[in-house]
Amino acid sequence: MTTQSQTPYKSIPGPRGLPILGVMPEMVSNMLGLFTKTARDFGGIAQFKLLNSTYFLITNPDYVKYILQDNYKNYIRGRSVETGRVLLGNGLPLIDGDFWLRERRLLQPAFHRERLAAFTSTAGNVIESFIQKWEQNAQNGQPLDLDEEMMHLTLTVIIKSMFSADIDDKIQSLSHAFNVASKFMLWRSQQMWAPPLSIPVPRNVEYNRAFKVLNDTIYPLITETRKNPTDDLLGMLLAMRDEETGEGMTDQQARDEVVTIFFAGHETTAASMAWAFYLLSEHPEVETRVRAELKTVLNGRIPTSADLTKLTYTQRVIQEVLRLYPAAYLFAREAVTEDVIDGYPIPPKTLIFITPYITHRDPKYWPDPGRFDPERFTPEQVANRPRHIYYPFGEGPHVCIGNNFALMEMQLILVIALQRFRLRLVPNHPIAFKPEATLRPKHGMKMIVEKV
Ligand code: HEM
Repeated sequence: MTTQSQTPYKSIPGPRGLPILGVMPEMVSNMLGLFTKTARDFGGIAQFKLLNSTYFLITNPDYVKYILQDNYKNYIRGRSVETGRVLLGNGLPLIDGDFWLRERRLLQPAFHRERLAAFTSTAGNVIESFIQKWEQNAQNGQPLDLDEEMMHLTLTVIIKSMFSADIDDKIQSLSHAFNVASKFMLWRSQQMWAPPLSIPVPRNVEYNRAFKVLNDTIYPLITETRKNPTDDLLGMLLAMRDEETGEGMTDQQARDEVVTIFFAGHETTAASMAWAFYLLSEHPEVETRVRAELKTVLNGRIPTSADLTKLTYTQRVIQEVLRLYPAAYLFAREAVTEDVIDGYPIPPKTLIFITPYITHRDPKYWPDPGRFDPERFTPEQVANRPRHIYYPFGEGPHVCIGNNFALMEMQLILVIALQRFRLRLVPNHPIAFKPEATLRPKHGMKMIVEKV
């Protein structure tokens, strides 16, 4: 791909949309349908109007790689993340440039593969005691909503991994505050105007209360962990020092990263797991193979981090779930200066949507793309297809810092659940997308639990 300036430039096609509104009605009623149709009709780079802004939709994998990796400094988060700031402050996904680089270097060691072993045992215990509660549902036949269950479970896992202190009595209020705050943030991102937080309308009052609960819980834990260092995620964040300056994180920055990690690190994993259980329920032949692998490798034991690497078929199942249902189905960038991608002009300040959902289902790269087939992730199949067509965790320098944590957690949840239960979708339960902050099932995921 050439990125040199070429004249004449190619023009960027796209749907016309309505006067003033642009494609807003379709964006609200069927966002994924709009993206799929736009990419199919106009190709890997298209543009459309949403009210008074123009957005580019870039799905060509070479262009995506160029934006996220080769020329990432020119494509910042910028305006695309502004609404997140009210809750996440200067958390890692909301910052750019040198500030981001310094922060990323401070956080990275806490997520290294070797550190994951410690989290595997914390997460394993949390998951086991959570899933035990399903025993009751297996007995009384009451279906479970796997979407809700997974949201609870993954938030508990991340809270317990972050704070090893005994905070069991605070988990409920933290989860509640977090859910209120994240719903509020989503709501604000969908409004053209919202009253400033200082105006005591009911929504603001509820949000401000939740914000206070989060801060009143997190700041004292930061102070305590500074005094008595711990081996949990918070302890690691506070222990990190910038190699050049020797400086660590301020309390405010640590608070922002804690809330960010709660936010970035639980709903994504939860949504992916709801889809994983759905796909297994629809594909019993795949589930049978997973069970066979679990029997051979574990024979009923809870897996250690070493075991997880041996569960190769289970790993492929998870990779295939993330292909069909990439929880982070949409993220965005803003161009800093003018650029040209393969002859297409990109003006400064252009807002660009990137959506793995479209690339992951493109029939050009994935034969029969809607079919759930974990065999797509055998080493041979991976080697035989183009790189950069699969990016559930993004790519380039901003690639998800928690990707190994997420894969470990997803594997643990799947293994521990399947060792004890069989989950079947409630007959006729409707399945549809709810593409909001993450790609979740619109009607939840009602499932019947049976003991194995
Ligand atoms: C299945 C689960 C997950 C998915 C699909 C996912 C996806 C992503 C994606 C696509 C990005 C890149 C966004 C961009 O380029 O703008 C990202 C970034 C990030 N993720 Fe995840 N994520 C998951 C789990 C996690 C977990 C478990 C954590 C933390 C424990 C986490 C923390 C972060 C952070 C802090 C960033 C920002 C990285 C940076 O800008 O340097 N994520 N994630």
